[in-house]
Amino acid sequence: MVVSSNEDLENLREIGRICANTIRTMAAAMEPGMTTRELDLIGRRFLEDHGAQSAPEFCYQFPGATCISVNEEVAHGIPGERVIAAGDLVNIDVSALKDGYFGDTGASFGVAPVAARTGRLLRDGKRALSKGLAQVKTGARYAAIGDVIGKFAQKNGYTLIRNLASHGVGKSLHEDPSEIATWPDRHEKRLMTEGQVFTVEPFLSLGATVAESEDDEDAWTLYGYPRALTVQFEHTVVVSRNGPIILTLPD
Ligand code: CO
Ligand code: CO
Repeated sequence: MVVSSNEDLENLREIGRICANTIRTMAAAMEPGMTTRELDLIGRRFLEDHGAQSAPEFCYQFPGATCISVNEEVAHGIPGERVIAAGDLVNIDVSALKDGYFGDTGASFGVAPVAARTGRLLRDGKRALSKGLAQVKTGARYAAIGDVIGKFAQKNGYTLIRNLASHGVGKSLHEDPSEIATWPDRHEKRLMTEGQVFTVEPFLSLGATVAESEDDEDAWTLYGYPRALTVQFEHTVVVSRNGPIILTLPD
């Protein structure tokens, strides 16, 4: 969507904050021995307590309130019986709606103690997101996001998942502009317009370049190919003349 009033912006800020606080609450509660279902329930309760509803459940009948992806899982992991262990890399992606407005944010976390290279991957995943966000400005090229993140990944010896793109959001979970690459894409010619709402969500990896489903029973969970640890950090932003307005910040 394109923000056209103060009311739009306030509602987007509200759901963005709820999504961010949901992740923060889940991350704070995460500990070895807990199942991903228990972690998801904490998220579900937080959303409900704040008048919000899970977007993947509402839009796609996803079997969980949040997406929780562990280690070899890259995205859209289904909360379940999997037990979180020390050293795990856990991605939590929370998207939700309230009063017809949607927010979407994600982050990866290491369950202490983590290996040094996992720690570096986490740090650099956040840096990749920051570099992408810094390209957001009225009139800028969407391609600039993928260009800087691609350069960053290459310089530091990482790969990027190239089939999970960023996307417009606001009045639904996935809307125009669709398929915003967080990797270099020479076909991308679109420009950012004032008030446009979209996500920036690079997937930085120690070797994977594609994420795909591997299980006929579970079409949701996506695994990296080739297998390698992958992190994702995501914010929802509004384009402005002064740069990005980040909606998914916690209190
Ligand atoms: Co997300
Ligand atoms: Co998203």
